[in-house]
Amino acid sequence: MKRLTEFDQLADPTFSHAVIDWQRSHGRHTLPWQNTTDAYRIWLSEIMLQQTQVAAVLGYYARFLERFPTVHALAEAPGEDVMAHWSGLGYYTRARNLHACAKRVVADYGGVFPSDPALLAELPGIGRSTAAAIAAFSSGVRAAILDGNVKRVFARVFGIDQYPGEKKVEDALWRRADALLPESGMESYTQGLMDLGATLCTRSRPACERCPLQARCVAYATGRTAELPVRKPKKTTPEKRAGMLVVIDRGQVLLEQRPGTGIWGGLLSLPEVDGHLGVEVDAPSASAVAVAAAQFGRVDEVEALRPLVHVFTHYKLHINPWLVRLSERGGATGRHLWWDLARIEEAPLPAPVKKLLVELGTPGLFS
Ligand code: ADE
Ligand code: SF4
Repeated sequence: MKRLTEFDQLADPTFSHAVIDWQRSHGRHTLPWQNTTDAYRIWLSEIMLQQTQVAAVLGYYARFLERFPTVHALAEAPGEDVMAHWSGLGYYTRARNLHACAKRVVADYGGVFPSDPALLAELPGIGRSTAAAIAAFSSGVRAAILDGNVKRVFARVFGIDQYPGEKKVEDALWRRADALLPESGMESYTQGLMDLGATLCTRSRPACERCPLQARCVAYATGRTAELPVRKPKKTTPEKRAGMLVVIDRGQVLLEQRPGTGIWGGLLSLPEVDGHLGVEVDAPSASAVAVAAAQFGRVDEVEALRPLVHVFTHYKLHINPWLVRLSERGGATGRHLWWDLARIEEAPLPAPVKKLLVELGTPGLFS
């Protein structure tokens, strides 16, 4: 039996038929950059529409074309003039790239935009999706667009429950977009996807009752239009745990020199029971604490203190401090030293450790 390739499995000519039929009867047909094959006008509209809504673009588009009617006129214009006609549209990198792109098209292509999307995508300010849109609208080239609106439509129709901003998810969406291209009717199909995303399948409250894709839409069928596409996952900060020994003897606390690199590098701190462990590890037991503290002398008693949480940029540390009273000090080791609690404010300690010791000292616990 013939094995289907991924491309074959994703392909479905009824998808583009539905989009094209809908575009022809319900899509937008009178936008000023439609009904032309002039790549200059199409390119200009696509750049303006990259981060700006149609309604906001209309006036700028007309004034811009009046002042710069051809790619030659734009290429030859002073930069300030171009910026002045972009002023108010925002995202000014677009305007600088636009000017650079016009100059490149004149210098490298004699003022004629290439129709190959791969060549278009090498020009300043033109990404893969914009290149495909320009090629489709100006030359009917079969190339897939995948802007934010199209990602939303695909995520809902195909029930893609992974974040589309993730590289492997986006790559899969591109393969899907390629597989769904129609044999012909690229202009209507491309415009149809854009119109669907902008007018029906909107971010909130999509108009599913009027949607030509409703019968095949996974999000609609499963009531998940509000959940799809999946939003950018919040970075979960890892959580760690450290049991700390507050070894007290005759008005002094035992401090440990931390290694020069890593967390709290080079500072003094409290000795730890086992270093920074995963938070799923249980807090150390009294007996584990007594064993760990035995290296510092004869342990008289151990007492759990109130746990505290310290938030770093990269992780959250749950600190379980234990008060350890010695009846006799052991021999000093190179990394440890006794510090007068009366001078604890002067110790080079991490902030949460200093706070812990200062708070403990306040009610006279150490005296
Ligand atoms: N957004 C991006 N390209 C568009 C186009 N050609 N028509 C309407 N909205 C768009
Ligand atoms: Fe979007 Fe609704 Fe259409 Fe699905 S049925 S594609 S959610 S508008």
